Amino acid sequence: MIHYLKKYRVLILVSGRGSNMISIIETCRRFEWPVTFLSVISDRPCEAIAKARNLSIPAEVVNREKLGKTFQTELLNKINYHNPDLIALAGFMVILDANLFSELFDSMINIHPSLLPMFKGLNTHQRVIDENVSVHGATVHSVSQGVDEGPIICQASIPVMPSDTKDTLAKKVLVLEHFIFPLSIGAVLSGKVIREENVWHRKDNCEPWFKENFKLFYEI
Ligand code: GAR
Repeated sequence: MIHYLKKYRVLILVSGRGSNMISIIETCRRFEWPVTFLSVISDRPCEAIAKARNLSIPAEVVNREKLGKTFQTELLNKINYHNPDLIALAGFMVILDANLFSELFDSMINIHPSLLPMFKGLNTHQRVIDENVSVHGATVHSVSQGVDEGPIICQASIPVMPSDTKDTLAKKVLVLEHFIFPLSIGAVLSGKVIREENVWHRKDNCEPWFKENFKLFYEI
């Protein structure tokens, strides 16, 4: 079970459908975790904005296309204004400028649809099929300068079946994502994942905690 260390002020960054965002918000609410959602920020008009507002979370667009060169600075200003403890990148499809954001990397966690370090970047499900890989999955990780790099917080996997297509894999992996992203936030809240040397690290003894809580989530 989760024993909380402190109340966390969380910002969620999105770019699209927002299903991971919803899983985070709903799980935090269902388990009454001590989280305040400061805002949902998107880099473009997208489904996630309306979905966040429907859940009574403030949502705003920092429009990348309209802002052009000033986009990253505007985004940084917006994030600094909210001053969050934790920033969840939930399908946020922007490569952040390390010159501007490096000080914030330590408070960011990202979800990626592959078993990192395999298949960084885009089109992960198709690449898994093309390369005949037998196991696929999702990763939540700390953010660092390299794209889809940074210490791994949590991973979950599925076997790749001969009948799988990129679409069936996307569906199956998304189910895993909806477990491991909220679970990773729960791990931060309960001190199983801690901020150390400027990134989030799993503590040595956290494996049983992850197993127990992953099972608990699955059974609900
Ligand atoms: C998710 O599959 C997430 O892992 C991926 O974008 C999708 C967003 O879906 N993120 C990345 O590829 C980042 N490298 P959602 O908007 O429904 O949460």
